[in-house]
Amino acid sequence: MKFRSPGKLRSAADFRAYLQSVDPRHDCDIALEGRDGPLGQPMSAGSLRIANRFATHPMEGWDATREGRPTEATLRRWRRFGESGAKLIWGGEAFAVQEDGRANPHQLFLNDALDVSSDLSRLRDELIAGHRAFGDTEDGLAIGLQLTHSGRFSRPDGHAAPLIAQHIPPLDERYGIDPGQALLTDGELEAIGERFVAAARLAADVGFDFVDVKCCHGYLLHELLGARQRPGAYGGDFAKRTALFRRIVAAIRVAAPKLEIACRVSIADVYPHSPREADRVGEPAGWDGALPYEHSFGSDPDDPRKFDLTESMEFLRLLESLDIRLVNVTVGSPYYCPHVQRPAAYPPSDGYLPPEDPLIGVLAHLDCVRQCKEAFPNLVLVGTGYSYLQEYFPHVAQHEVRHGHVDSVGLGRMVLIYPDLVRDVLDGRPFQKKKICRTFSDCTTAPRNGLISGCYPLDPYYKAMPEARQLKAIKKELS
Ligand SMILES: Cc1cc2nc3c(=O)[nH]c(=O)nc-3n(C[C@H](O)[C@H](O)[C@H](O)COP(=O)(O)O)c2cc1C
Repeated sequence: MKFRSPGKLRSAADFRAYLQSVDPRHDCDIALEGRDGPLGQPMSAGSLRIANRFATHPMEGWDATREGRPTEATLRRWRRFGESGAKLIWGGEAFAVQEDGRANPHQLFLNDALDVSSDLSRLRDELIAGHRAFGDTEDGLAIGLQLTHSGRFSRPDGHAAPLIAQHIPPLDERYGIDPGQALLTDGELEAIGERFVAAARLAADVGFDFVDVKCCHGYLLHELLGARQRPGAYGGDFAKRTALFRRIVAAIRVAAPKLEIACRVSIADVYPHSPREADRVGEPAGWDGALPYEHSFGSDPDDPRKFDLTESMEFLRLLESLDIRLVNVTVGSPYYCPHVQRPAAYPPSDGYLPPEDPLIGVLAHLDCVRQCKEAFPNLVLVGTGYSYLQEYFPHVAQHEVRHGHVDSVGLGRMVLIYPDLVRDVLDGRPFQKKKICRTFSDCTTAPRNGLISGCYPLDPYYKAMPEARQLKAIKKELS
């Protein structure tokens, strides 16, 4: 697959020409307008006042202790989120509501044996200290905590220990899940729901402005949204598939009435991809033998290679009816369709070569959030998938916000290495080219191989770690 990486294009005008050759419906701004432009404008979401249009996405580091306590690397990452100058901090990272729902043994979690509130306070304080260190105040800064249960992707002690809400044949097969494995019972789901509520109460006590009841990327509450064949109270029709989510939201409202509730949702999805034997290019092998495909949320059951936003719109309507204003729109899953979820020039070790120009993956994100915004103008929507745009991220971001296609632009991988990008854009400074994320995917490859996540190619902090050498050796062996 031949494509031109945005970083290789010489100017915004060249990028625009390339963008429009890929999809003429898209455009970008040429001149950036800094704080006076669309990206510097404040917005509100429920009771939250957010002083600019940048968000940092949740970015987990696989770097907590086995007990779930933050380490120096965790604190550094949260500090850098604060340093970024983005005024919407979407959770720092996924915080597991219980130990068996951790996606790895180094994820933060609600450990009843510890004083978790002081750990969360430290993280939040560190973030605010980073924000203040650059002269910013807490005015218009909104900080959330993302709550999760990893469901089928749970690996609390480093080995797969899937807890599933439904069987998904292609994923069961890929991850060695026995077709006879029992589903989480309705009672077990309800107990997990109670843990979301306990974590939300704690977040409120610590001073977080909102919690994200996470429904994305293949984790438990996302899996449940597609569980059409699940029997009982939490599977089947749309009302039942959203019943646990609604139950959690209602209970958080009672437990922490002042806390805002937000939701990060995979609004669209595709059939699981895997590397083609001949050339390692990703393909949705077997999709045509699995029809109708009734296990996912936001894909067409008759052709699950394609998005179908019909139910996604219903979900947004539900969020609005529950008075959830702030929604982070993401797509797919990093496990089974990474080219869609986090478009990259270089795949992670357990991925595949891009089946399409990664720019198409970015535009898929932009299209989804545009459609959501058009249908639900009163929701405050955060967009995802921008890091691959590299130098031209702000040109696209400014264009999308200016035209009302999205309210806030979120940064994931880019913020790990170049948090001050936000300040550089707002203050009209030239980009620091050496700090631009080139989507090498080491931040994903490292944790997939049991190492902590970080920007190994560019960040001296990770470059100097012994893990950098381990990662190099792992990549060499795999190549
Ligand atoms: C190392 C790493 C950790 C991530 N951790 C989380 C997480 O904890 N919660 C979440 O919702 N998404 C997580 N994501 C996904 C990002 O938030 C984001 O959706 C993705 O990287 C695409 O945005 P980008 O193009 O700006 O990187 C993670 C991504 C990476 C690469």
